[in-house]
Amino acid sequence: MSSEFSKSKDKEGVSFLRTRRTRSSKAIRNLVRENRLHPENFVYPFFVVEGDGVREEIQSMPGQFQMSVDNLLDACREIIECKISAVILFGIPHAKDDKATEAYAENGIIQIATKVIKENFPELCVITDVCLCEYMDHGHCGVVEGNRIVNDSTLELLSQTALSHVIAGADMVAPSDMMDGRVGHIRKILDSNGFPETPIMSYASKYASAFYGPFRVAAESTPSFGDRSTYQMDPSNSREAIREVAIDIEEGADIILVKPALPYLDILSKVRSEFDIPVAAYNVSGEYAMLVSAMKAGWLDPEKAFMESLVSIRRAGADFIITYFAKDASRRLLGDFDTPLSWM
Ligand code: PBG
Repeated sequence: MSSEFSKSKDKEGVSFLRTRRTRSSKAIRNLVRENRLHPENFVYPFFVVEGDGVREEIQSMPGQFQMSVDNLLDACREIIECKISAVILFGIPHAKDDKATEAYAENGIIQIATKVIKENFPELCVITDVCLCEYMDHGHCGVVEGNRIVNDSTLELLSQTALSHVIAGADMVAPSDMMDGRVGHIRKILDSNGFPETPIMSYASKYASAFYGPFRVAAESTPSFGDRSTYQMDPSNSREAIREVAIDIEEGADIILVKPALPYLDILSKVRSEFDIPVAAYNVSGEYAMLVSAMKAGWLDPEKAFMESLVSIRRAGADFIITYFAKDASRRLLGDFDTPLSWM
């Protein structure tokens, strides 16, 4: 490199290598741009509640709403106008217990929401989050005995939940609980019930993160005791993420998710370079809240900061991004700068 470098200098020792040439006009910058955002790279999350006519702003996530199924349809119309092709559903049930009964109830909130969305918008890809925390009275992602979160008895409940979502019409299931063996267990149950073609997106490397705080307000799923560190990953670890992903791929995961996104771009990049499977990232509630509060305060440029964050996630290697910014980003990408940003 150094000899090549000296060849690129003139007699006076001035380099004629100029990286600024490819930045000299907008057109040239566009030509050499390495990573792009597109509405089709986004998945938009919905928080579905029971009842009628509910559209309540989530205090910890300005511009995001808990919605009843009737209002979900207008929201889907908006999503489709924004050219976004997928949503992920989170449910807030009317009742919680220690078996998460509402998670796999035939007429549970997600099962109904899925059915209604698919009836009205068959082309919209409905992904369901498969987890028990919103449905358990203690708020943990698994069955609790004493103060332990028990792995193997949780698997059956998770699989029943996934199956009930797919029966309702879900196009993809996304287990986010971090129990061992759940991808394989869900795969087996789906296959033996006639759904061998339904993909599983596994939250394979999901960290025990403080950045889920605003979501837990939205989904009413804060654990009543302890935390999630016996099942979600230690934020200090990176080799372990590769192991988690390898295991989930072996169990049959079709898409791998890294979560959170922004504080874990190194993990995303590593997973991307190790595996040839589609990789997604979850730009979580805390990342949203952090940026939105600074943009609202005028400390960060509200038109630029969130777009730069999103492209950084693509640059690190995500094929697509689950993000609360999906609608706003899509509008801007489609050239609509008039619709106000939803959190402003
Ligand atoms: C359910 C689940 C959580 C999130 C997605 N699925 C919360 C958690 O694990 O505590 C977080 C999403 C977000 O913060 O936006 N287990």
